[in-house]
Amino acid sequence: MANDASTVFDVVILGGGSGGYAAALRAAQLGLSVALVEKGELGGTCLHRGCIPTKALLHAAEIADETKEAAEFGVLATFQGIDINGVHKYKDDVIAGLYKGLQGLVASRKVTFVQGEGKLSSQTSVDVNGHRIEGRHIVLATGSVPRSIPGLEIDGNRVISSDHALKLDRIPKSAVILGGGVIGVEFASVWKSFGVDVTIVEALPHLVPLEDENSSKLLERAFRKRGIKFELKARFSGVEYTEAGVRVSTENGKQIDADLLLVAIGRGPVSAGLGYEENGVAMDRGYVLVDEYMRTNVPTISAVGDLAPTLQLAHVGFAEGILVAERLAGLKPVPIDYDGVPRVTYSNPEVASVGISEAKAVELYGKEKVVTLKYNLAGNGKSKILKTAGEIKLVQVKDGAVVGVHMVGARMGEQVGEAQLIYNWEALPAEVAQLIHAHPTQSEALGEAHLALAGKPLHAHD
Ligand code: NAI
Repeated sequence: MANDASTVFDVVILGGGSGGYAAALRAAQLGLSVALVEKGELGGTCLHRGCIPTKALLHAAEIADETKEAAEFGVLATFQGIDINGVHKYKDDVIAGLYKGLQGLVASRKVTFVQGEGKLSSQTSVDVNGHRIEGRHIVLATGSVPRSIPGLEIDGNRVISSDHALKLDRIPKSAVILGGGVIGVEFASVWKSFGVDVTIVEALPHLVPLEDENSSKLLERAFRKRGIKFELKARFSGVEYTEAGVRVSTENGKQIDADLLLVAIGRGPVSAGLGYEENGVAMDRGYVLVDEYMRTNVPTISAVGDLAPTLQLAHVGFAEGILVAERLAGLKPVPIDYDGVPRVTYSNPEVASVGISEAKAVELYGKEKVVTLKYNLAGNGKSKILKTAGEIKLVQVKDGAVVGVHMVGARMGEQVGEAQLIYNWEALPAEVAQLIHAHPTQSEALGEAHLALAGKPLHAHD
């Protein structure tokens, strides 16, 4: 390997997804010299195979639903169907615009972008395209890929992952989705709006099982109403090819026939064969272990994003990347409070939350110390106008701060910004109740929920 590094970078970053490019941009902003190595496209999973394309599909789905329901609002429109090529063009245009912007941003910050597959070659270097790039510090940010189960082969045609689902050039008549987590629920929502007969198979007792149980139940009720089928407490046992598609079996004896099976049982870290273990980096099941400052056990190496065993969310990747850059530049960033990270599932209806669930609060503080309040969106004018159903549930420590906000309903993802301020600033219900919310907005529902929790409900029964 030629060591042609006449310069030693302050930071060499392996992987140009949300975590890696955020680290690069912030480090460069703070005056550090940065090399960013990426084998595919700058922007990684979120921009090209995750957040952005799925949300574009979900928006197309929303337009389809609104067209179908237009008459309920006195608007005459006829839903003629989905032009899947048109949907892809719209989605790809969104990605292309953001991709161009991001490339411009990286160039303007004077980050040295290296296109190629990199490998950690020592505790202070990365090899790529036959060259060695030296760095005083290395940031590992190689992300994650869809996981499968041993023996369940993803063929990209009848058994697919979310990567394939985002590029599917046809609309299946029916689909089974394995996994009722975020990806499973978002695709179920899109496909139902596109006219697909969807069944979700989930091993745990609820859809989006990481959410407060109330949110899961509300989503299940809404999905039932939409005709999205789901099997809960149903562990996958096998799939066979039939003449027309697939037959999916579960351990509790169910068999479901469909055109295809989407496997959405989680994403696993990308770390195999990249030289991490060989160079002494401590790992656990493929994840790189980190402390609250994203430091690995090797003093020169940090890790961020989906590669680390923290929440697999793009905005967490951004925050971890920024934290590492600031630490390496000699600032004193504070560790991330992962409970304070907002979470949104962009299905119809949306599920949004920040803070902890009621169950977790009871575990932490004891049952008698936990107060909850549910505010039904039926009392919220804007939600009524949108014809959406749902609830906001607040979890409070008795006589103390609000420690959980859990919301279900159309567009509730947009309310999570205020909810996270409430949680992260440890607001008391009476303090939020004092803030005036614009009428009629959906944010008003958050205000009303806090009015009620403070003992002075307005548009709610005492
Ligand atoms: P996930 O971990 O959220 O959900 C996977 C689900 O599959 C779980 O509910 C699990 O119980 C179920 N499951 C696992 N094995 C099973 C089996 N053998 N039979 C039946 N069910 C089984 O993973 P998902 O949905 O694939 O998402 C991956 C990551 O991507 C998540 O960490 C998620 O947070 C992130 N993501 C975030 C989005 C957002 O913020 N809107 C959108 C999409 C993904």
